[in-house]
Amino acid sequence: MKQGLLFPDLEKEKRLYPRAVNVASVPQRSPFRYPGGKTWFVPTFRRWMRSMQSKPSVLVEPFAGGGIISLTALFENLVERAVMVERDEEVAAIWQAVVNGHANWLARRVLEFNLTRDNVIRELSKRYKDCKAVAFQTLLKNRTLHGGILAEGSGFLKHGENGKGISSRWYPKTLARRFENLSSVAPRIEFICGDGFQVLHKYARRQDVVYFIDPPYTAGGKRAGQRLYKYHQVDHERLFGICERLKGDFLMTYDLAEEVKQLARAHSFEMKPIAMTNTHNAEMTELIVGRDLSWMTDAPTIREKRAAYRTRAKKIRARSDKEK
Ligand SMILES: C[S@@+](CC[C@H](N)C(=O)[O-])C[C@H]1O[C@@H](n2cnc3c(N)ncnc32)[C@H](O)[C@@H]1O
Repeated sequence: MKQGLLFPDLEKEKRLYPRAVNVASVPQRSPFRYPGGKTWFVPTFRRWMRSMQSKPSVLVEPFAGGGIISLTALFENLVERAVMVERDEEVAAIWQAVVNGHANWLARRVLEFNLTRDNVIRELSKRYKDCKAVAFQTLLKNRTLHGGILAEGSGFLKHGENGKGISSRWYPKTLARRFENLSSVAPRIEFICGDGFQVLHKYARRQDVVYFIDPPYTAGGKRAGQRLYKYHQVDHERLFGICERLKGDFLMTYDLAEEVKQLARAHSFEMKPIAMTNTHNAEMTELIVGRDLSWMTDAPTIREKRAAYRTRAKKIRARSDKEK
């Protein structure tokens, strides 16, 4: 049986929303090549931030991963501070090292390291307590393991780019420059190795805070998050519930799955499709969820039979109309 399209109106002969962003046009500021990384989302993120009436003071990113969105917000002065939260201790080691003032140490270490398969294996077999040394190990893994995947079961790059194998994603000068640049924004980052949910609760009442929420995609569809991340279990229902209580605005990115759409409907959030290109250069559609996505003028709001995606403002207006 042929599977029906999720958004038949959007996917007929002519697309109604823009093509995927060419990520080459976006400054790469993160030292990670991160599975599920959101470099492609940067232009949309900028538009969201610029659509706000007043500049928020803080961006909270409760599932920070490679952190490209927080870094963009800091480098482009879209916020004063970023709070980045990541549960994976290895990923966290890099952010902790940067925040603790070791970005230049990491830059030097990258330039000194002679990347051969034997040297990588030797370095990764060492047990370090020093956070910056663990950070360097994480970087090595991220740059030499297939797909940058740190989760258990990942293997070394075999052929890589241009048949260069294990070193095909190791660009020492570029990586060193990224670390050096990071040292300039490090004082504006608060990094927490912990649970993004707790941090959302902590900031929930602040009006000057905005949230970029990019959880592992495990709420249906291909359940991609399970093989990509060590920590992939997320209570998506609870996450949507917390989002409803946030005083500041938020955006969530999800895969385009029925479960996600149902959650968004249940919480009266808006959704819009967005095109992205995956690592295999295949164009895919993901889902943006938020309270009010009217600033995304070039993408249609998804409205299905149950037109339940009302923003809080619209709900209040409807209620007071009723009461009149
Ligand atoms: C989709 S990735 C984020 C990618 C990121 N936006 C980027 O551009 O690189 C989701 C991340 O959430 C992390 N994670 C999972 N559960 C978490 C939790 N409860 N608190 C904080 N981080 C969590 C995973 O380790 C993973 O790095």
